[in-house]
Amino acid sequence: MRIVKVPLADRTYSIVIGPDLLSSLGKKCAELNLGKRCAIISDANAAPHHGKAAAQSLVANGFEVSTIVLPAGETTKNLSVVQRCYNELAKQRFERKSFVVALGGGVIGDLAGFVAATYLRGIPFVQVPTTLLAQVDSSVGGKVGVNLKAGKNLVGAFYQPKLVLCDLATLDTLPPREFKAGLAEVIKYGIIYDAFLFKRLERDLDKVLARDPKVLGSVIARCCEIKADVVGQDETESGLRAILNFGHTIGHAIENISGYGKYLHGEAISIGQVAAAKLSRQLTGLSEREVSRIEALFARTGLPTKIRLTPAQHKKLFDAMKLDKKVSAGEIKFVLAEKIGTVKWGQKVPEDLIHQALD
Ligand SMILES: NC(=O)c1ccc[n+]([C@@H]2O[C@H](COP(=O)([O-])OP(=O)(O)OC[C@H]3O[C@@H](n4cnc5c(N)ncnc54)[C@H](O)[C@@H]3O)[C@@H](O)[C@H]2O)c1
Ligand SMILES: [Zn+2]
Repeated sequence: MRIVKVPLADRTYSIVIGPDLLSSLGKKCAELNLGKRCAIISDANAAPHHGKAAAQSLVANGFEVSTIVLPAGETTKNLSVVQRCYNELAKQRFERKSFVVALGGGVIGDLAGFVAATYLRGIPFVQVPTTLLAQVDSSVGGKVGVNLKAGKNLVGAFYQPKLVLCDLATLDTLPPREFKAGLAEVIKYGIIYDAFLFKRLERDLDKVLARDPKVLGSVIARCCEIKADVVGQDETESGLRAILNFGHTIGHAIENISGYGKYLHGEAISIGQVAAAKLSRQLTGLSEREVSRIEALFARTGLPTKIRLTPAQHKKLFDAMKLDKKVSAGEIKFVLAEKIGTVKWGQKVPEDLIHQALD
């Protein structure tokens, strides 16, 4: 078992990572001085596999547990589902110390976290992320929220959990495509922050893909450490946190123009990161060799590295990039790499170079 501390003054909490941790969920919650009542919020894919173990562990430790199972998928992340959860909590007469357990991927974590952040002006919540993406990314850092028709994640808050429990065994039931998509974020941490992690991934990729718990546990822990470190220095995204968006400017635009659903987020940012590496070659001195290593690692993982676009789609992609909420004063700014492990944010990139990087 590994523990990563997220140091945020009085809101400091631990991320616990290891195999078969779900059975200790109740005991760990009992150590947190929470109320008796709790609601597990989960979805139709995660709950059948892991809901029972989570509930049993909580009940065995004296908690009164109710479970809310929501439809799976991004469309669940909306305000009417939030309201459905509020009504459920009110029916159960939740109080200030009652707590929410988010059991699922990033959709559930973001939504349940937002419910917890706002119900009674905030009740405690515990994250039990069950996708690789959620374990290395969305459960760390305290961003919670939902989508509006007008765009993704437009309503939300910064709200930290009391505990994050990453049970590696929950990943066993994750479909291979979802698992690989999570690896796109894992590789990202290597590129933006840790050349040694990147090298390790090159060396141990087969074990990672085979979901070897030992290798995976230490890789996930390292990713959480990196995200915690970045978020610890810049909790509300005024500077450094931007580096987490490497590959995301183009990635988000690809998700947007291809209609959400064609590409998983991890697939879109895989293409985005390869394009950002090519731009880095031209603008921030990333070597040709490192561009090739980056492209090769995504390809070996089984992730897409290119996209074929018609001229009309190119234009749509640019329009989408300009609408990204990270764009300020109409200028598209990129995170670019100087070498694997070191990036710079706020880099202006001429449009024609972006076209070239995508061709
Ligand atoms: N808060 C943040 O900082 C942050 C960061 C990155 C992404 N996100 C958000 O995270 C979401 C994406 O997260 P995701 O990729 O985990 O998506 P997801 O929650 O939709 O999960 C992916 C799929 O896997 C299923 N699933 C989950 N756990 C499973 C398990 N153990 N076994 C089998 N199936 C399982 C889900 O039902 C879903 O079909 C997006 O909404 C994104 O905006 C948030
Ligand atoms: Zn991402």
